[in-house]
Amino acid sequence: MSKHTPRVFSGVQPTGNLHLGNYLGAISKFVTMQHEYESIFCVVDLHAITVPQDPKLLKAQTREIAAAYLAAGIDPTKSIIFQQSAVSAHAELSWILSCQARIGWLNRMTQFKDKAGKDKEKASVGLYVYPVLMAADILAYKATHVPVGEDQKQHLELSRDIATKFNNDMGTEDFFPLPEPMIQGPATRVMSLRDGTAKMSKSDPSDLSRITFTDDADAIAKKFKKAKSDPEPLPSEEEGLDGRPEAKNLVGIYAALSGISAADVLSEFGGQGFGALKPRLAELAVEKLSPISGEMRRLMEDTSHIDGILSQGAQRADDIAAPILRDVKEIMGFLAPTS
Ligand code: TYM
Repeated sequence: MSKHTPRVFSGVQPTGNLHLGNYLGAISKFVTMQHEYESIFCVVDLHAITVPQDPKLLKAQTREIAAAYLAAGIDPTKSIIFQQSAVSAHAELSWILSCQARIGWLNRMTQFKDKAGKDKEKASVGLYVYPVLMAADILAYKATHVPVGEDQKQHLELSRDIATKFNNDMGTEDFFPLPEPMIQGPATRVMSLRDGTAKMSKSDPSDLSRITFTDDADAIAKKFKKAKSDPEPLPSEEEGLDGRPEAKNLVGIYAALSGISAADVLSEFGGQGFGALKPRLAELAVEKLSPISGEMRRLMEDTSHIDGILSQGAQRADDIAAPILRDVKEIMGFLAPTS
């Protein structure tokens, strides 16, 4: 039995274009988990600056993620919502952990390779050590459970390796818990609407590839209508989706949005064409997303309310992280300042 208090930590980058993948793969799961665990949800602005950000937009984008958390149903009196840069433990612990992490481990990170593109020499050092900062985010709170989409799996494995190395090397068995990735349920990997083999992503140049929280009902209907499909009717059994990535993705989105299984979606739509599924999918998406996006817009009109929630959250987050960081510094042999 672990001695660690069960605690959830997760984060979303304030980089604009929050999409259906972020909602189904992460935020909607945060909403459910907050009832089962002590939960901390962060807006990871330090991660956002691993690629250039316009400082004028970053503040608004930070508030927008906070608004999305609130609008989706995260209760700020229960869970902690705050921005990463407001709690110094993230950056401090990240440095200490970067002295534990090995270059070979980071060299294996596929997301760095994807994001850095062809000319890796020009990528920021921050982009390279991005996963170490992620480990610091989680371990600064000794978080035990981390709900994320499938794309973050490798980063979470790295967090576990870093925690294990720290515990072993510093002779502090079990000081850090090994955080458990929670990549479960439907829609752990929502795919692009233009290509069923590519992840739905904020950075896809095609706006038609993703449904975002700023899309109105017409835009959502248009994007599903134009979504790539194939000429076959939908199968009646799930096995029939093998080798049909676009069909699998649309059925998966329908299942996740309606809270039913893919098998149930197929028992309704099996034998019919995409012309039957797509309009229903658009209706469902509008029904689920428009109350959230409407509430986000309402919240964004009162920035002082959002800022107040973030400030209170940062204080509560700091209350948890500061003593853990103090223990880490003691373990490292840093001389504590006398007051
Ligand atoms: P970000 O902002 O890129 O993504 C936020 C969350 O959305 C999930 N996600 C998806 N899920 C399903 N299908 C998709 N197409 C899809 N696209 C994105 C991501 O997996 C993520 O859960 N590095 C993190 C942020 C982070 C973090 C942390 C997470 C920073 N520190 C500590 C957990 C713990 C990220 O990818 O953000």
